[in-house]
Amino acid sequence: MLRRLHPVQPDSFAFTAANLEWAKGQISKYPEGRQASAIIPLLWRAQEQEGWLTRKAIETVADMLGMAYIRALEVATFYFMFQLQPVGSIAHVQICGTTTCMICGAEDLIKVCKELIAPAPHTLSKDGKFSWEEVECMGACANAPMAQIGKDYYEDLTPEKLRDLIARFSKGEVPVPGPQNGRYAAEPLSGLTTLKDFESGKKQYNASAQLAVDIGDTVKRIDGTEVPILTPWLGKAATSAAPKKPAAKKTAAPKVETTADAPAKAPRASRAKKTEEE
Ligand code: FES
Repeated sequence: MLRRLHPVQPDSFAFTAANLEWAKGQISKYPEGRQASAIIPLLWRAQEQEGWLTRKAIETVADMLGMAYIRALEVATFYFMFQLQPVGSIAHVQICGTTTCMICGAEDLIKVCKELIAPAPHTLSKDGKFSWEEVECMGACANAPMAQIGKDYYEDLTPEKLRDLIARFSKGEVPVPGPQNGRYAAEPLSGLTTLKDFESGKKQYNASAQLAVDIGDTVKRIDGTEVPILTPWLGKAATSAAPKKPAAKKTAAPKVETTADAPAKAPRASRAKKTEEE
């Protein structure tokens, strides 16, 4: 697939103060002359800041790392995780269209995206809240068909389930990720057939979904409030860029879904909070 920069580009890009400090910390991890090694985290943070990767952002990162623009463009256009066009303000929906998901109904999910978001991929919905694309296997084939929405996987989907998810995201909710058909993880729908001892002591959701609920960052963009910047090799353990309380916990916690078979549960302290306290 040919990946080009979007024809409409902003005139400028600048990291926020917090992101700039974080970026300098990343660059300092590499020996003199090897700063280019920091390109992927810096491009990623630029995308998290803006929602997508603009030409100016790519050039700014290239300048910070002493790289030719073409080298930075090569990275940005090679990796599909970099969005080269505006994405929905709430979420970019990535539907897996590879074999297992396709056999299990991915094409029907894509029809829903075409109907509810936009007829063509990488196009904003009319309200600007969503965009979508078809992607290759995301490694959740046992829970096909699935989609990545924001940072998390929504699995065992049906067209109706996807419609419902998009509607709830649109209203500001953040539905619990993971299997959407009642499965705990990737076990048979009727329950475990072996290793049944592992049924005891499990958390409310499987490890991946539980972490998503605990951190609450499914559709939240990384903004530097998640963890303190640790660069002890520069003579300081943490910078003032890390606020006392991470925004992720504060903003996302009230949106956690409750389901009929999974009653509400107060999210535990976020990993960011724990890290900060440590
Ligand atoms: S084929 Fe869709 S996750 Fe693997």
